[in-house]
Amino acid sequence: MKIVSIVGARPQFIKSAPLSREIRKKYEEILIHTGQHYDYEMSKIFFDELGIPEPDYNLEVGSGTHGYQTGEMLKKLEDVLIKENPGIALVYGDTNSTLAGALASVKLHIKLGHIEAGLRSHDKKMPEEINRVLTDHISDYLFCPTKTSVENLKKEGIRNGVYLVGDVMYDSLIYNIKIAEKKSEILKKLELNKKDYLLLTIHRAENTDNIENLVKILNSLSKIDEKVIFPVHPRTRNVIEKYKIKISDNIVLIEPLSYLDFIKLEKYAKKILTDSGGMQKEAYILKVPCITLRDRTEWIETIEDGWNVLVSRDENKIIDAVKNFNPKNKQRNVYGNGKASENIAKILKESCDVSCLGGELHE
Ligand code: UD1
Ligand code: UDP
Repeated sequence: MKIVSIVGARPQFIKSAPLSREIRKKYEEILIHTGQHYDYEMSKIFFDELGIPEPDYNLEVGSGTHGYQTGEMLKKLEDVLIKENPGIALVYGDTNSTLAGALASVKLHIKLGHIEAGLRSHDKKMPEEINRVLTDHISDYLFCPTKTSVENLKKEGIRNGVYLVGDVMYDSLIYNIKIAEKKSEILKKLELNKKDYLLLTIHRAENTDNIENLVKILNSLSKIDEKVIFPVHPRTRNVIEKYKIKISDNIVLIEPLSYLDFIKLEKYAKKILTDSGGMQKEAYILKVPCITLRDRTEWIETIEDGWNVLVSRDENKIIDAVKNFNPKNKQRNVYGNGKASENIAKILKESCDVSCLGGELHE
């Protein structure tokens, strides 16, 4: 059977790496890159470093408004899917590439699998929430990372084809952190001591389209006596440059990093400040306190277990968390046992051997 995997944005390359390895043991995989992310540091660096196979197609859609970007992807994906006629299409996470891949596939009656199904922030202002809700409701296979995500789907009446498999990002992190430990020279390169710096990332619409919010975060961090390493997403760099936002001396702006450099930097950070989805999870797994620059999160277990705190853009909360948020709580085993990718490949095989009709709830 032929499986098409559709990726396009940084976290999707990272998620697809372990699953692609598993899929290729049993099936023919066709990899489609929508071209949503295209800078070397946002795309090719991950293929090179993680040994992800060269995409069979790069649709080179690039940047634009939501409608433009999703529409262009839809048109171009349809052509490729008709040509390749796969048995299953897999989409990852919650970006515009996810939604376009999902829509293009189901309209052609191609069975659809959603990796990282069932997550909810319950905030429709976040474009990611729209993408994940719509994708879940048209998927045949819903591969859930956590028990909460299974419950979220149940509440929306989705029970068939739901599988609790664990988290593919967890697979990726535990596989690569030992490699990063040995290979990455990032601490030396940036002249950093372990647990002596904060790591910051910002890229979500709520903190970049709303310039006031970005300024509030950066101002808050200018008032603390800590070195802040800030690998800057291109979206955020554009805003900083366009509005000439002043950056204080304790904040060190650098280019986005490769995965191995980045996870090493995460592991040895004193604390992580971020609006990223994936980084909240990685901070939890690496047992680094996470201060989340948002009002809500879909990774609710990290909050419940006390390793993550939502501070929005509130200066007092940000400064207080940087100074005083020092969780010691015991963690549950939330993200599985590092076999999410293996589980997904196995389920695809079993289901397709029978009828290609989706499965029952497996917990
Ligand atoms: C997208 C996802 C977001 C995810 C993030 C991962 C959507 C709606 N959002 O957000 O969920 O967390 O990816 O990083 O799909 N740009 C470049 N070079 C690039 C890529 C982007 O310069 O290689 C700039 C462009 O100006 C572009 C802007 O960044 O307009 C935003 O890129 P886009 O892919 O639309 O959204 P992200 O913010 O990256
Ligand atoms: N990441 C990376 N280099 C960076 C910043 C992030 O490799 O400079 C990785 C990070 O380890 C995580 C993923 O990118 O695995 C998160 O992607 P991002 O924050 O862009 O998206 P989100 O998870 O919010 O969708």
